Amino acid sequence: MLLLGDGTEVADVLDPYRRPRRARPERPCWVVANMVGGLDGCAAIGGRVGSLSEGADVELFGALRSLADVVLVGAETVRRERYGPVRLSAEHQDERRATGRTPLPPIAVVSRSLNLDWDSPLFASVDGPRPIVVTCGSADTEARRCAEAHAEVVVAGEATVDLASALVTLRGLGHEIVLCEGGPTLLGELASFGLLDELCLSVAPRMGGDPLPLAVTPAGGAPTHLRLRHVARDGDTLLLRYEVDDHG
Ligand SMILES: NC(=O)c1ccc[n+]([C@@H]2O[C@H](COP(=O)([O-])OP(=O)(O)OC[C@H]3O[C@@H](n4cnc5c(N)ncnc54)[C@H](OP(=O)(O)O)[C@@H]3O)[C@@H](O)[C@H]2O)c1
Repeated sequence: MLLLGDGTEVADVLDPYRRPRRARPERPCWVVANMVGGLDGCAAIGGRVGSLSEGADVELFGALRSLADVVLVGAETVRRERYGPVRLSAEHQDERRATGRTPLPPIAVVSRSLNLDWDSPLFASVDGPRPIVVTCGSADTEARRCAEAHAEVVVAGEATVDLASALVTLRGLGHEIVLCEGGPTLLGELASFGLLDELCLSVAPRMGGDPLPLAVTPAGGAPTHLRLRHVARDGDTLLLRYEVDDHG
């Protein structure tokens, strides 16, 4: 056991997040999830995540987006958080171009209902990459036509989205590093289906948020074992980085 003390001041608390080589040759994508939770494990306050996140965690949100090929997010988070397209600083966009990547990663929304606001900036913006909608064969035909008019549509699975095959398709579109920004339902599925590789979890000094845990494991889902790779502190917020034990 180690007692962590005051530690060493670092110039850039986000540097350790840029270092890992995010690839597993035997798998199509590297899936890194970024979540922030309260001390009681709550994932939102008043239906939104904003008041849980501050300081370095806000910077981490942007830094991870700058490393991602695609940002994968559940439809409920898109609806509640009123998602728009990814915006990055000119510096981050230049860094991406220098490594042969697109300046901005697209958002990929997972949804069966396709109950999405097609007039929102996420789907109506003309600049930036075309958003992606990941849906399943049982989605309503008319709703799917609407989705196709506003986004690249990926169909994976029949009754619900088969996330494993969705990742294969995303890789086929050139997306290797998949950043999952939640929500808890999507994260719980990815983890319990063995599709998660890394979890960047910030623990905010708050309690008493919504009765929504950080991950909702589907019925019968398997537990996931992770290894702690990195701990940092920014004020009273802890920044933890875990990697999933080798999937063997
Ligand atoms: N603390 C954090 O870091 C964090 C991060 C993100 C979000 N949040 C919070 O989490 C809340 C939303 O999370 P949530 O767990 O309720 O929802 P969610 O995971 O964002 O989205 C769930 C929705 O995604 C779609 N979906 C997920 N898996 C699917 C599958 N296998 N097949 C088909 N569709 C699938 C469905 O959309 P349809 O209903 O359209 O079919 C489902 O209703 C919000 O309050 C948000 O603020 C917190």
